Amino acid sequence: LIAMDAADRLLNWYDRHHRELPWRVSPPMARNGATPDPYHVWLSEVMLQQTTVQAVKAYFEKFLTLWPTVEDLAAAETEDVMKAWAGLGYYARARNLKKCAEAVARDHGGRFPDREEGLRALPGIGDYTAAALAAIAFNRRSAVLDGNVERVISRLFAIETPLPAAKPEMRALVSDLTPADRPGDFAQAMMDLGATICTPKRPACSLCPFRANCLALATADPETFPRKGVK
Ligand code: ADE
Repeated sequence: LIAMDAADRLLNWYDRHHRELPWRVSPPMARNGATPDPYHVWLSEVMLQQTTVQAVKAYFEKFLTLWPTVEDLAAAETEDVMKAWAGLGYYARARNLKKCAEAVARDHGGRFPDREEGLRALPGIGDYTAAALAAIAFNRRSAVLDGNVERVISRLFAIETPLPAAKPEMRALVSDLTPADRPGDFAQAMMDLGATICTPKRPACSLCPFRANCLALATADPETFPRKGVK
């Protein structure tokens, strides 16, 4: 079972090389059974949608200081939330953030729904965020696909179909690869691998836990994946 083997290698790598980020639990989950606070995961995922990890750290800490719980954020003045968001850009995200906090506080007793479908029904939560939250905060076996994961998958399976047409194929492969026991760590490990090893330019293939499994490395130049559509 090549897929199980690959997932184990990735998790093993993640245990040793994961990035310490303020919204993560440390050490990674399966060792102590703890999952991170869904409010923290949601806030970080919304902030990370168009902003780098490095830039998000300070904003994440500021928001938690100002509004320690989702109910505090729901009760905040929209103007104060917009002010705290200033610099992150894409202000529609901040408006949706506030609306989502209100919906969680009002309709769900301050607790985020613990499945993808329930999460997707909330303001500002799309397919990506719903899957990321379900996997990371609730340890559900959801397939999490962002730009980093697309790059890793496109190389691992040497996917010739260009983006965005390849997305359904990629989602199915991520879904097959995601292990039942640590889906949240698996998702974050794929993101960390894409950010630190399987980079767009000059990937560090010699350090990659997938180096024995990677079809792009075996047959072609990993840097040429994901394929781009003809313009
Ligand atoms: N980018 C978006 N979400 C992330 C996460 N949970 N960990 C690392 N990078 C991310």
